[in-house]
Amino acid sequence: MFSQASHNSRTSTVASGAGSVEIVTRVNELIADLRPDNVDLLAACHRIQHEYGWVPREAVPLLAAKFNTTPALIFGAIDFYSELRKEAPADDVVEWCSGPACLLKGSVGIRRAMEAILGCGMNQATSDGKFELRLVQCDGTCHLAPLVRHKGKYVGPLSATRAIEWTRSLKGVEPALAAVSAVEDADPPAEEGA
Ligand code: FES
Repeated sequence: MFSQASHNSRTSTVASGAGSVEIVTRVNELIADLRPDNVDLLAACHRIQHEYGWVPREAVPLLAAKFNTTPALIFGAIDFYSELRKEAPADDVVEWCSGPACLLKGSVGIRRAMEAILGCGMNQATSDGKFELRLVQCDGTCHLAPLVRHKGKYVGPLSATRAIEWTRSLKGVEPALAAVSAVEDADPPAEEGA
């Protein structure tokens, strides 16, 4: 059996309907107390993504001004960190752990199965915008490896077979798995800026 346990990453889209003026105002509030130093750039991106679910385009020139750099370098930093994103997430995001413990326990097979069933590649969304696969890093919950994160839960340990069942269930191809239950009381380290 595998478990679904809560994790504390958040990709809220609560503010996704905000307009540009509101975004500029809110982003300026979020980064106001940070130092104009690259050391705080990642913290700024985390705060913004925590608020919106991604780093809106409107935030990039504000970050560039705050950290005395160029928008191109801000975009480069966002692209470099796989946890950061430049666009709104799909309705349903499955986060696939790319860490070493998950890899050693067969996560590549899980990834391939999920890509095939969902119909999208890693860090891509399906054409209807319903599902998305995201590559994420290890957050210390290796006892559940290999795992994926979904809607604030850890799903693992997964075998390829269970991954297929779970993904088909997610798509509504099969009835929801009755055996899935929240039995693991994971308490991973908080994400920076969360
Ligand atoms: S390597 Fe996947 S949770 Fe640690």
